[in-house]
Amino acid sequence: MFNNIYNRRKVLITGHTGFKGSWLALWLFKIGAEVIGYALPPPTEPNHFELLHADMISEIGDIRDAEKLKKVFKEYKPEIVFHLAAQPLVRLSYKDPVETFASNVMGTINVFEASRESGSVHAIVNITSDKCYENREWVWGYREIDPLGGYDPYSASKGCSELITSCWRNSFFNPKGYGSIHQTLLASGRAGNVIGGGDWAVDRLIPDMMCAVTQNEKVKIRNPNASRPWQHVLEPLSGYLLLGQKLLEGRKEFAEAWNFGPFEDRNATVGEIAGQIKMSWPKIDYEIDTTHNQPHEAGMLSLDCSKARTKMQWKPVWNSNTAVEKTTLWYRAFYETKEVLSLDDINSYIADAKSKHLSWVKE
Ligand SMILES: NC(=O)c1ccc[n+]([C@@H]2O[C@H](COP(=O)([O-])OP(=O)(O)OC[C@H]3O[C@@H](n4cnc5c(N)ncnc54)[C@H](O)[C@@H]3O)[C@@H](O)[C@H]2O)c1
Repeated sequence: MFNNIYNRRKVLITGHTGFKGSWLALWLFKIGAEVIGYALPPPTEPNHFELLHADMISEIGDIRDAEKLKKVFKEYKPEIVFHLAAQPLVRLSYKDPVETFASNVMGTINVFEASRESGSVHAIVNITSDKCYENREWVWGYREIDPLGGYDPYSASKGCSELITSCWRNSFFNPKGYGSIHQTLLASGRAGNVIGGGDWAVDRLIPDMMCAVTQNEKVKIRNPNASRPWQHVLEPLSGYLLLGQKLLEGRKEFAEAWNFGPFEDRNATVGEIAGQIKMSWPKIDYEIDTTHNQPHEAGMLSLDCSKARTKMQWKPVWNSNTAVEKTTLWYRAFYETKEVLSLDDINSYIADAKSKHLSWVKE
């Protein structure tokens, strides 16, 4: 997988105690990487990170603490960094915009500076979001060349994170000087709404539904018509890992921004996803929240992933039905038998990718 590039490679993940970071740590561990994590303590209880009992180095720290971050980089000398640590919630960003910008903007700068000073980092993948684009509520997917923006503090902070990425790439990690002036390639990944087992964040559709079912409650669904590029968490992770591979191989042309999402026409509304979840776990009950004065959230948001598809030969593996089915099964197994199916999900994702002859996985 990934040309075996991660085997015995020192990989630092910021945000490893979170939902996406813990899945990425598990996958990297499976393919032989030496994983070092840097993050605040797990943001929820329960949480996927602790359930995995992963054999990795876990440093608990704040990305706003530039000195501590530099010390960790100097101590472990990572060769590649996947930067996922962030305040990732739109509604929370309205309540705490200062913390959101401090973590998502200054935190990102601190990660880049720690990488620059370490002398060991050859590749950085900064995980931003599909929400980094100026949202025009149009039907077309956003392309990497579309203007950045952000109505709410979270989205704007991710737009800023993209600007910072572009600034550091031009100023310090310029591909033209790679191999002579410096040794680091920097890229960013912009992915859509992800679903999968092990997410307990507040105000997200799947965790809200899964928690309500275990308490025999009816969950209230906000914005049922909001359309999003839903995908299983393993989809963007395969994109980030493939991008990381290209950077570690010294492929300068990949030091850019990349969208990773479902095929454009596979966007689904919140209401459609909720209906699919109910079909795979009929015990789930929900109703539409008709409360007014909800904070603004984008209505229409989709990604154009032609660039990743044509230049990187990256493609999604699972459609939204499979993503929903795998996610529901994960929570059912967890709540009914205390089983954690994450490794089974990774294995079945890889098997399906193989049968589709995807570029990152060899027979
Ligand atoms: N989940 C999604 O649907 C989605 C979609 C697009 C982009 N993203 C991005 O992916 C990344 C991971 O999101 P997630 O869903 O796993 O979120 P999460 O809340 O589950 O995890 C966030 C991680 O960041 C850490 N963190 C937060 N602030 C920190 C700080 N100041 N210092 C150190 N660590 C800090 C947390 O401890 C945790 O490990 C984020 O950058 C998010 O913006 C997520």
